[in-house]
Amino acid sequence: MSDIKTIDALDARGKRVLVRVDFNVPVKDGAVTDDTRIRAALPTIQKLADDGARVILMSHLGRPSGTGFEEAFTLRPAALRLAELLGKPVAFAADTVGEDAQAKAAALRDGDVLLLENLRFDKREKKNDPGFCEELAALGEAYVNDAFGTAHRAHASTAGVAALLPAYAGYLMEREVGTLSGMLEQPKRPFVAILGGSKVSDKIKVIDALIDKCDTLIIGGGMCFTFLLAQGLSVGTSLKEDEWVERAGEMLAKARERGVELLLPTDVVCADRFAEDAATKEVPVDAIPADMMGLDIGAGTAARYADAIGKAATVFWNGPMGVFEMDAFAAGTKAVAEAVADNEAADTIIGGGDSVAAVNKFGLADKMTFISTGGGASMELVQGEALPGVEALR
Ligand code: 3PG
Repeated sequence: MSDIKTIDALDARGKRVLVRVDFNVPVKDGAVTDDTRIRAALPTIQKLADDGARVILMSHLGRPSGTGFEEAFTLRPAALRLAELLGKPVAFAADTVGEDAQAKAAALRDGDVLLLENLRFDKREKKNDPGFCEELAALGEAYVNDAFGTAHRAHASTAGVAALLPAYAGYLMEREVGTLSGMLEQPKRPFVAILGGSKVSDKIKVIDALIDKCDTLIIGGGMCFTFLLAQGLSVGTSLKEDEWVERAGEMLAKARERGVELLLPTDVVCADRFAEDAATKEVPVDAIPADMMGLDIGAGTAARYADAIGKAATVFWNGPMGVFEMDAFAAGTKAVAEAVADNEAADTIIGGGDSVAAVNKFGLADKMTFISTGGGASMELVQGEALPGVEALR
């Protein structure tokens, strides 16, 4: 990040500043149900407004078809929530680069804040269309990207427009990239990485990259069964990816060669079907019944994992240990979340997505050092991939 200018270097007074934020937040009945991402962008918005900028915010929400307005994906609820959080009015434009946006951008006074309608209502956004980039750029005099959650997308508002205006990183972008890169480049040791989630295929690049960086790699979630298969065990009706067994075996070998301790479950909670009220049984991993599926790590495994987490100086966690949305299969994820929270001396970094939902569900968010607002973006960064939204600021 040292080669990227942040908003501290921007003389914002009186300028129209176009700010890409990630307000891709859950909305129900016209109200934002989780405002984490809006809160995360407040320091940047507040700083620019306090400096006398005319702040023009832009974001996407969800994945609309790109053929114009769709009520289900309007950003209006985000504007209302932002106004509450800022304690002042936030103007809202019913389009992105059309007449309403142009008129409302022109009417801004120093310190005012405007939010544009969902960028993805225009299909040119995802195509990084040069004409759309120019129309966006025409709204402002400087560009700020604070949308870490969307930094892995090379879209008009995250990549193309940055080349057309003086470009800066917002505070959230700076903190996200700084924390995750710092963890990879100079972790305090031991560095324990915990990976869960359902599919090996989704996580293989992250596993591969983390074996190069960490001291201990803990594996849980549905994907552990493909690893257990690679060890020659039977996994009953558990989730598995047969075509990834060989690759999983290679990862086990790679960890051994590098001297990285790779921990897999030694016991699992099995169920006779995928349901909250299923009949369950906790068994060692070499005794999974042929007609049952593993839906959580067992108590013995949770204790081993908690022990390893307790000895860490850096912890990175992405992905639940089991189907934590169902109480019957939440104990493993809860035990890991508590072990991470209890290790107060360590740098504890939660890498977006479902693990954030888990940490919130168990009321432990305040105990973590850093919770990323980017699911896909944080995974790509950890995988060592360049993020278009960050590269465009260089
Ligand atoms: C996210 O929630 O991961 C980001 O907002 C990006 O959304 P997308 O996957 O629809 O591009």
